[in-house]
Amino acid sequence: MRKSLQQQISFFLVTGIAFLIFLVSCQEMPQAQQSPSATPPSQTDPTIVPVQLPPLPYNYDALEPYIDAETMMVHHDRHHATYVDRLNEAIQQNPDLQGVSVVTMLQDLNRVPEAIRTAIRNNGGGHLNHTMFWQIMAPNAGGQPTGALAEAINSTFGNFDTFKQQFNQAGSSRFGSGWVWLVLNSQGQLQIVSTANQDSPIMDGLYPVMGNDVWEHAYYLKYQNRRVEYLDNWWNVVNWTEVDRRFTQAKGLQAQLSTRRLQAVSSQEFRQANGTAERLPITCAYYQQQSPVVPSQLFDPTDHPL
Ligand SMILES: [Fe+2]
Repeated sequence: MRKSLQQQISFFLVTGIAFLIFLVSCQEMPQAQQSPSATPPSQTDPTIVPVQLPPLPYNYDALEPYIDAETMMVHHDRHHATYVDRLNEAIQQNPDLQGVSVVTMLQDLNRVPEAIRTAIRNNGGGHLNHTMFWQIMAPNAGGQPTGALAEAINSTFGNFDTFKQQFNQAGSSRFGSGWVWLVLNSQGQLQIVSTANQDSPIMDGLYPVMGNDVWEHAYYLKYQNRRVEYLDNWWNVVNWTEVDRRFTQAKGLQAQLSTRRLQAVSSQEFRQANGTAERLPITCAYYQQQSPVVPSQLFDPTDHPL
């Protein structure tokens, strides 16, 4: 009888241990089936330096009451951060783009591999546009420009109020999401343009002296559908010191622009002149051989941190 009991206990012990071993082996199976050399899709190339989200140069509530703190937080920390993340994801898909500035890629998107072209256009543009946007706003700002910029605005648009009116009109009439810009064109003249989505004026050979974000994410929490009211109030936070710096720098470097290259901006002429080069793999060296549409000196390192 005692021997039978011992046999039963032994049987249950052996069975239990075997069952435990079975369970453990089942849990480890997926790992054991993975190839040691397999790279998980989410793993990134550690040799590629990612684009960084530039810090907001003031507190979230610094632009109150014209732009509320929550909008600034969501706009910078989430929307701009997402553009940066997705830009980095696109670059990770093509390591040849490492070291190529965002500006350079946007200036000739046809050189960017088609698979990531839209991602570079949207997220590279989003990153570049917003990097400028934070800088050309400031607390205790607003008013009017002075000096050479004021003279250029007056000579181009008649006076400052007319310029504001035309700028706001272009911003309010932009259907859907986009930007309104004051740009310097290839003839060295100021011009008001509007772009859709996150397209940058540099894609058309235009240097963005200043621009306002008319995506709903820029104003909806405070202004809801009242984009015109947002556009009117935005002038109270324009940092004319920074806008004037961008204008002065652009004018100073205007002479360095290649007329031929400017006339060929993103044009068929340039692509035809380069024939099948459009299909060649992108390399840093290739880009460095191209004369830029807009001199890279016009952009701060933070504009294109790659
Ligand atoms: Fe935005």
